[in-house]
Parts: sequence; C-alpha cells; structure tokens
Amino acid sequence: MLQPLTWTGHAVRLLDQTRLPRQTVYVEIFDERQMHDAIRRLVVRGAPLIGIAAAFGVYLGVKDATPEQLSTRLREVADYLATSRPTAVNLFWALDRIKRMGTSKERILRECLEMIEEDNRICRAIGEHGLKLLQQLHAGAKPTADRRSAAPASSRNILTHCNAGGLATAGYGTALAPIYLGRERGEKFHVYADETRPLLQGSRITAYELKENGVPVTVICDNMAPVVLSQGKVDACIVGADRIAANGDTANKIGTLALAIAARHFNVPFYVAAPTSTIDLPTKTGADIPIEQRAAEEVAEFGDRPTAPDGVDIYNPAFDVTPAALITAIITEHGVAIPPFERSLAEMCKTRMENRG
Ligand code: MRU
Repeated sequence: MLQPLTWTGHAVRLLDQTRLPRQTVYVEIFDERQMHDAIRRLVVRGAPLIGIAAAFGVYLGVKDATPEQLSTRLREVADYLATSRPTAVNLFWALDRIKRMGTSKERILRECLEMIEEDNRICRAIGEHGLKLLQQLHAGAKPTADRRSAAPASSRNILTHCNAGGLATAGYGTALAPIYLGRERGEKFHVYADETRPLLQGSRITAYELKENGVPVTVICDNMAPVVLSQGKVDACIVGADRIAANGDTANKIGTLALAIAARHFNVPFYVAAPTSTIDLPTKTGADIPIEQRAAEEVAEFGDRPTAPDGVDIYNPAFDVTPAALITAIITEHGVAIPPFERSLAEMCKTRMENRG
C-alpha cells in the first residue's frame, strides 16, 4: 500500500494528494502552520488521516516548547489546528486524545506513532467485518436477469464515492478495506468509483490506489451512478464517513446522499464503513453536524478553465448528510451496527471504551 503519511524522525512526510494521479510528490511538514495548510488544502485528507496528521501537527508545534510553556502551547496549537476543517470528527477526537498526553513531549510523539499502528489494526478489523457481510450478501443473492456487469460474473461489484481507501487512512482504508482483504484471500472484486465532483477524489485518488493495488476499477461520473444501479451492476455500495451522529445520520463527501437515495430506490444495500472514532454520540442527529463550505473556485473552475460565468453565485458544501433510514448497516472495527442505530452505535462505542481498559 502507498503510505500517505510517515514520520521521518524530524518531519511528517505527506503524499500530496492534490497532485494525484499525474504526480506522486511528497512534501515534508515541519510545523503546525504547514500542517494546518496541508489539511485545509487537502494535501492530506480523509477523516482518519486528518486526525493523525493533526496529532503530529500538535507535536511539531510543541516540540521546541520549554517545560513551563508546554501546557499553554499544547492548548494553543491544538485549538489552532482544530480550525483547519470542521466536519470530520476524527480531527477533534485526535486533538483531544493528544491534549490528554499533556505532561511530556515524548508521550505526545509516542501517541502519534501509536495512532498510525492503531489505525492500521482498525482498518483491518473493518475489512474483516465488511468482507464477512459481503460474503453473506453474495451467498444469499439471486442473480438478476439484467446483470450486465463490466466485470467477470464471479466478481463482487462494489460502488463507492469519494476516497475512503488507504490514502484516507494509515492502513487499508475503511470502505475499501473489505476489498483489499478479500483480494489477499483470492476473492474477486470490481469497483465502480464515482468521480466525486468537485475535487474528484474518486477518479483521482480511489481509481489511482485501486489500480496501483491491482483491483479492477471503472470510473463513472457521479450522475451515472443511478443508471449503473438500475442496470443491476452493483452488489453493494460502500462509502466512508466524516461524522456519524448518535442516530446514525452520516456526513460524508457531497454526493453520498444522492447515491444513498438511488441505492434505496433500486434496492441495493448501502453500507457505511468507519472507525468508532467517527461516531460522535454527543451529536444527536445529522442536523447538528457542521458542514464545511469550500471556495467557489472549486466549482467554477476545472483545472485552469472556467466552468461557470464570472461573478455567478456558487454554492459549494463539501459534505452532505445521509439520513440513517437510508443506511443498511454501519461497519466498524467492533462489528456491524444495524438499525436501530441509537442502540447499536452506542454499543460499538461502549466496546471501544471497554477494550481500552
Ligand atoms: O474532503 P475529503 O477528501 O477529506 O473527504 C473525504 C471523505 O468524504 C471520506 O469519505 C471520509 O473522510 C472517510 S475516509 C476513510
């Protein structure tokens, strides 16, 4: 797997995801300002990876502080990094976790490195639970008359939106983890990757990492997904999440909601795959999730070319909220949560607390 984030011993090395798929370029981050900028510009992105990156950003920001300055500096740097992006709760979760290490810089760095290892284990566990779910689905599925798939008949066909793969985490990803794990065990998968307007994380990043890892992938524009679903070409949709409210309402990349509506219409299971750190129990429903608004140019320009008249109004929310009622199940590292989500998600979070001791 490509490593989107590594610690070099003196800096954080990030794969610059804004340059994919054309260029595989790494940048070194030396302080919290550079990390804030990298998160805001999506050099590093994806909810779990944003959390880990922010944690390292705190370390970089406090590493030269004197013992007397440390606790104030820690608070300042964490508060500053918290302003980089508002929606992915993993960012705030990671910053809180690092703030609890307050007494020692060595402990902060150790916790950052442990977050990488832990994320790796979590992605694998999500992969295990997700794969089992897909195997059960496949075993019970009746072939439809109109299954005109681009992939071999024995492949499982998964449709995903945005990028919730290895480049959004420190491991196998969340939505793509069952696919990577299944392939390791000789199972066949084929993925439809929604392009994911406006910043094209699906075609630029998901298609890139799947291709690099030898998984057959077909890129489609977002507005083609309902057609592909209607043609019976998809066994399941799996997406990641930036924040899951206590009732199961899920914020993810803009376009996820439209996909979930289409999947329900065509009776295709719609799964969310996310670590329990993405579940935000104090946020009761999706209406309480802050949605990032991004620059108009992301919509009004494509590369260097304008795609809308100068001066026209642009609306660019980076995420949407899929109501829990459209979600078949939520795959976490502690198992698969099914409706009613209030109960099952609380149960998953309880298991996480118990496992930590
Ligand atoms: O704006 P991005 O690229 O950070 O958005 C990423 C997503 O929406 C992902 O689906 C989500 O963070 C989950 S990543 C495992």
